[in-house]
Amino acid sequence: MTPSTALRAASTAPEILARCRELVAPALAEAIDGLHPWVGEMAGYALGRCEVGGAPASRHQGKGLRQTLAVLGAEVAGGSAEAGVPGAVAVELVHTFSLVHDDIMDGDALRRGRPAVWKAYGTGPAVLAGDALFALAVDTLTAAPSTPGSGAAVRQLTTALRDLVRGQADDLLFARRPWTGPEAVAVAEYEVMAEHKTGALLGCALALGARLAGAPEETAAALDRAGRHLGVAFQIADDLLGIWGDPAVTGKPVHGDLRQGKKTLPVLAALAAPGGRALTELLARPDVLDDTALRRAAALVARAGGREAALREARRHLAAADALLAGTAPAPRPLEELRTLLSSLSRRTL
Ligand code: IPE
Ligand code: MG
Ligand code: MG
Repeated sequence: MTPSTALRAASTAPEILARCRELVAPALAEAIDGLHPWVGEMAGYALGRCEVGGAPASRHQGKGLRQTLAVLGAEVAGGSAEAGVPGAVAVELVHTFSLVHDDIMDGDALRRGRPAVWKAYGTGPAVLAGDALFALAVDTLTAAPSTPGSGAAVRQLTTALRDLVRGQADDLLFARRPWTGPEAVAVAEYEVMAEHKTGALLGCALALGARLAGAPEETAAALDRAGRHLGVAFQIADDLLGIWGDPAVTGKPVHGDLRQGKKTLPVLAALAAPGGRALTELLARPDVLDDTALRRAAALVARAGGREAALREARRHLAAADALLAGTAPAPRPLEELRTLLSSLSRRTL
């Protein structure tokens, strides 16, 4: 170890995210600038870059986890951070597209503490903005400099898109199914849905970066699997925040999932537990789920052990992600940064 590496303080998670956001920002801005101006404004609003009307926004930006994973994926594979940038832009655009359309599907009026795109601009325009972001993502990746890994990188993205749609379809269909009885959603079905709707894109982010940097197939596949585990943990954390999160912090209304009959893990786990009977009776009457009943439902989920069970499951997925990362024989510094990100995610939300 050289003295400089020995003395270098390890980066914190916010520093890692900020470094990657700064690296990716110019390419992301350039991509958005190429859109039709009206669509570009909506895309900029969805990305937290501007307000309605186009004035620059300083708040409301996401953490940029997916773009960071793509950059670190390239570095883990021994490439430069820059090699991961087209992949980082593509996954960030896909993520933004999926949120714009997701809020329409879920009927959620609030995202990151301000009106969702469909509330701010109308549903038709929001559908179009989502389409534009999707198309731009594919365009960005296919326009990236051709390398031996580019073809596999494009397939990585299309696979994630296919899985994301599959996961969203199950999420919507599960909401129509009863909480209990033979038609009830099993925890195993939830896990597949969560891996598809959230895990596929996180896996894609890591693997895409690695593929653009010329990683061998086994490394890219292991990173994909690690990201999918991370995504399931992330979705469980999102489920927990949807019940017990502070709307001032999450920027989303509380109890939205319960009200919509979304099959989230804490509730499924509570219903399966021996103490889940009172909850079963309460949820059997969706017509009387007013704010008081929703608060009572949340308390019953916790009392039946649903919160703890979901936390355990999230930690299990994080440990699986960590083990896969450790086995990829990667470059040490980016691996250390990835693991820092993982543990900060688990501390903050779990
Ligand atoms: C969003 O899932 C997943 C995708 C957008 C693909 P959710 O609907 O559970 O997430 P939030 O709570 O609205 O962010
Ligand atoms: Mg949603
Ligand atoms: Mg949804």
